[in-house]
Amino acid sequence: MTHAIDRFRRAGIAAFSLTFLAGPALAEGEVNIYSYRQPDLIEPLLDAFTEQTGIATNVLFLNKGLEEKIEAEGVNSPADLIFTVDIGRLSNAKAKGITQPVSEEAINANIPEQFRDPDGHWFGLTTRGRVVYASKERVGQDTITYEELADPKWKGKICIRSGQHAYNLALFASMIAHHGEDYTKTWLTGLKNNLARKPDGNDRAQAKAIYAGECDLGIGNTYYVGLMQTNEKEPEQKDWAESIKVLFPNAEDRGTHVNISGMALAKHAPNKDNAVKLMEFLASSQGQEIYAEQVFEYPIGPGTEPSDIVKGFGDIKPDSLPLDEIANNRKTASELVDTTGFQDGPAS
Ligand SMILES: [Fe+2]
Repeated sequence: MTHAIDRFRRAGIAAFSLTFLAGPALAEGEVNIYSYRQPDLIEPLLDAFTEQTGIATNVLFLNKGLEEKIEAEGVNSPADLIFTVDIGRLSNAKAKGITQPVSEEAINANIPEQFRDPDGHWFGLTTRGRVVYASKERVGQDTITYEELADPKWKGKICIRSGQHAYNLALFASMIAHHGEDYTKTWLTGLKNNLARKPDGNDRAQAKAIYAGECDLGIGNTYYVGLMQTNEKEPEQKDWAESIKVLFPNAEDRGTHVNISGMALAKHAPNKDNAVKLMEFLASSQGQEIYAEQVFEYPIGPGTEPSDIVKGFGDIKPDSLPLDEIANNRKTASELVDTTGFQDGPAS
């Protein structure tokens, strides 16, 4: 254990102080988490876990290169559990061989099959819808479909971030899974021709552009609406959020495309038993509700409720497409973004 802590320098100080301050807790061991999610987002969750089990948690936050770090550390990696967002990253971790399968019934029972790897290498914990932000002022309709975004009636009205961003690749991959490659190529070309400008900025920037009158529709994830509504650091974001309504595409047919935040057990996890205990806790309705509340996402399991802020966006009916099918179509989606010249924006 000391060996692992030495390697886990950032968290090591906290772990050592626990040795003296809270001996019994350390006696229950620890678990090391490599996370793409900000520490403050997962802290309440980990605190609740430690309180229940006495198992200490150490978090190493990275904003890039997490998979490569684990790969480079090899068999000596102190990583037990990987925390990340997006099906692209989760499936990539499996493909790199840095994860191992888990088949605990307590986990599987709480996470619907469509949101976990068929081989048990990754598990969704929360879902986020990829929705349409629509100007309250300029858009009368309250329903929409993804297919409709290619309709010329929206010419010059739509804003979106880079087509190569993971969030859009997953959406485009879902279109391929539902309609095939040829349809999706035509659809992407139609969407590109409806753009108000070249793909640019992040999801929140699309809401800002609607607020500024540059476009009427934007594509974005649900949780950014909560992040904008509650943003005390940049209160102007509250105005952006106030200017839009959330439309859940395809609510009347197959449902809205959703992606996940999730977890995976690291291949060489030195504290495997504790990591599996943490995975069980995270999959439980208690764990999911704490997590979903912090990040303005939807808890994934049956019988769990989103926060009041998230409920305020409206009801979501998630597309039932298994996420591994989306993962399998991501590469083709990326190629279509290139062949359609999506990044060049509308033809002038
Ligand atoms: Fe995001």
